[in-house]
Amino acid sequence: MPHRRLKVGVTRKLPQAVETRLAALFDVAFNADDAPLSREELVALARDVDVLAPTLGDTLDAAFFEAAGERMKLIANFGAGVDHIDIAAAKARGVTVTNTPSVLAEDAADMAMALILAAPRRLVEGVKAIESGAFKGWSPTWMLGRRVRGKKLGIIGLGRVGEAVARRARAFGLSIHYHNRKPINPHIEEELDATFWPDLDEMLPRMDIVSINCPATPQTRHLLSRERLALMSPHAYVVNISRGEIIDEEALADAIVSGRLAGAGLDVFENEPKPNERLMAAANVVLLPHMASATIESRIEMGERVIINIKMFADGHKPPDRIILGLE
Ligand code: DGY
Repeated sequence: MPHRRLKVGVTRKLPQAVETRLAALFDVAFNADDAPLSREELVALARDVDVLAPTLGDTLDAAFFEAAGERMKLIANFGAGVDHIDIAAAKARGVTVTNTPSVLAEDAADMAMALILAAPRRLVEGVKAIESGAFKGWSPTWMLGRRVRGKKLGIIGLGRVGEAVARRARAFGLSIHYHNRKPINPHIEEELDATFWPDLDEMLPRMDIVSINCPATPQTRHLLSRERLALMSPHAYVVNISRGEIIDEEALADAIVSGRLAGAGLDVFENEPKPNERLMAAANVVLLPHMASATIESRIEMGERVIINIKMFADGHKPPDRIILGLE
């Protein structure tokens, strides 16, 4: 099918450069005002296009695929995480799903590193002290945080982003520990001087900072459960730029409010856009509005991946960033 005849539905406003290129290549239905689509609007759009380019926040569950009709054959997701898409339901209906991996890994890792520094060094509390006028001059005992250098960083999910976090953390003098289903490539493990912990419960009590960098799947939901949070040292911090669902947020709030954890740096929440109110009120928690990949460069490169995936699909090839289920 020639590209110009392929109809693409884009659910949110994308960077102008990406929309311009999409419009040059395909017949595109854009979302000019960027308002999230309702379920009805999403289904209506899907029924009218060959390709849907959704993002995080568009819930594409089994009922959506049921209602979406037969025309749409590719979901070219704008984003790395695909936890909002029922991949098995898509596959059952012959719909290919792609994402935008790699291009945002470095920027996302910068934000994880920023939180790894910001929580123990009380960066946001310091900013607030200036803003509120609480700064009355330097004091030997005021605003004391915890040293980062020499501490142990436990990365849950040492993939693309996790590895980029590890490289940054090494430069800040942290030692690298990680929990994955399987150990990473031994050369990279050696280069990072990283210690593999097959059992998360063994790793957690020994870490000073835990960074969540695994994808959200049914298996990782509440991976940092109440029981696991209780295993952590009261001096430890939790950092999460992946998905809120990976932490039991109520249990995290309990642990922080009661002093059983030193603090947290969170870019994502269980019920976005609303963070847990007790976490919002806690001085030792740094909260960001899901902005780890929010650079112009990342968002344009994410758009380019979307375009590459659609073009490959349009040319009859397998798009490069297909989400593979099991042993496909
Ligand atoms: C993703 O890509 O999944 C991020 O959470 C948003 O960029």
